[in-house]
Parts: sequence; structure tokens; C-alpha cells
Amino acid sequence: MLKIFKSVKEWRAFRQRDQFFGKTIGFVPTMGNLHLGHRALIERSVRENDFTVLSIFVNPTQFNNREDLEKYPRTQEADIRMVEGVRADYILMPEYDCLYPDDYTYRVQESVISKFMEGRSRPGHFDGMLTVVLKLLQLVRATRAYFGEKDYQQLQLVRGLVDAFFIDTEIVACSTVRDENGLALSSRNSRLSEGDYDKAVQFAKILQSEKSSKAVCERLDEMGIEVDYIEDGSGRRFGAVNVGGVRLIDNYDLKVNEKVERE
Ligand code: PAF
Repeated sequence: MLKIFKSVKEWRAFRQRDQFFGKTIGFVPTMGNLHLGHRALIERSVRENDFTVLSIFVNPTQFNNREDLEKYPRTQEADIRMVEGVRADYILMPEYDCLYPDDYTYRVQESVISKFMEGRSRPGHFDGMLTVVLKLLQLVRATRAYFGEKDYQQLQLVRGLVDAFFIDTEIVACSTVRDENGLALSSRNSRLSEGDYDKAVQFAKILQSEKSSKAVCERLDEMGIEVDYIEDGSGRRFGAVNVGGVRLIDNYDLKVNEKVERE
């Protein structure tokens, strides 16, 4: 039966139990408002591990914009029902003071990858993300932790984090889950109006279909979609736009596009 921990102290005591000895633990960190993308991560963890731990914590230190933090959808009851349905074992749902006894006086900073794209547009975002992920990885001591490729820069940074700090957790990358129109699932999608949803779908399509990042920018511009960046790198194309006040990010593997064109 699903067990929920709000206290870090109780979780730490529980984690010492013999029942975990010699067993594999999968971990899925989230900020709640769970959708089918999260569900795919949790299901994979349940398949691949003896126990699955999920965290639900809207991490204030990774929001550089107060309004974005306040508007972040909080759907605790529905989230718990979903987690029960996919048979995960434990949820960590700590309060800020419990997870940040230092009140964020200690923090993790990366100085290369975190400086462009999302890092350039959202100063401090990756410091907050890396800090909370380090705390959670230390608490869970998982065999594997599951991250979606939609937040690709985050995934790269978390991989670097476990290498830099010798954390014995394997980081498992999971493909982006899209809706029937190709839009990458995100908690932010629920804030899109009907008209803005159509624009968001166009963003996903154009990002993938145009030959160059410059052509993507031009097409988005023509459609009145505000572009933050469109960049190609590491064999992928990355994009961030603002649609009706909602920030959306996405990325594609350029090699997959080349293969489709050849066929
Ligand atoms: O991807 C997210 O939802 C968050 O950045 C994470 C990894 C849960 C850290 O707060």
C-alpha cells in the first residue's frame, strides 16, 4: 500500500529498514500535477525496480518568477490517486523547511551547461533545480532515477551532478511523451487557452519540420509566437517560446528527422 512521508526525519529512519537491503529502488522526482508523461516514468520505474519512490515538491528555489511559482498547478489529491493506480510504493511530500533546513544558504552551481538556453533566460533556475535534486538523491539513495528528455538541459545537468558528486544512482533518460497532436506533455499545458493550445501545437510541429533553426524562428514569428530561443546543438534542436504568458520548451533529436527524410 502507498505510504506518504511528509517528514524528512521519518523517511530517513524508514529508509534504514532491512526491507531495502539488497533491493533496487527507482526514484521519480516531480513537482506534482502529474500527467501521462510522469505516469510513463513511474510505470517504467515500477517495472524495473523492487520499490518505487516518487517525490512531489514544488521547489521554490528553481522559480525565477514569483507569478510562475504561484500559478504552478497544485493537484495533490489527483496526484495521489494516480500514484496509487500505478502501484508506486512511497511518496515524499516534504514542506520547504523540512527540505531546506539551511534556507537555501547552501546551493549547487554549475558553470558551463547551465549558462545557456534555459539558464540564460531563467537566472538561478538550474541552481535551485540541482540543489533540490541533490537533496532528494541523497535522501532516496535510489538505484535508478528517471528523468524525461523534454527537459533535456536538466537531464544533462543531473547526469553531470551525479558524476561530479559520486552519487551511486543511475540516471535513466525517458522519451518525451506527446499528446495526440504532437504537443509535449507538461504541467504548464493546463494553463493554455483553446487558441493558445493550437499555437503550442504549431510550435511543436514547426520545431521539428523546418530545416534550420533560423527557418523555425521565421515561421514562428509569422504566426505571432514569441520566441525565446531556437538552437541546434549536441545533435538536437531546442526551442522555448511564450504562448499567452505560458513558457513552453521542447526538443528533438535531429538524427531522427534526417532518418525520416531519407525513408
Ligand atoms: O522536472 C521537474 O519537475 C523538476 O525540475 C524536478 C526534477 C522535480 C526538481 O524540482
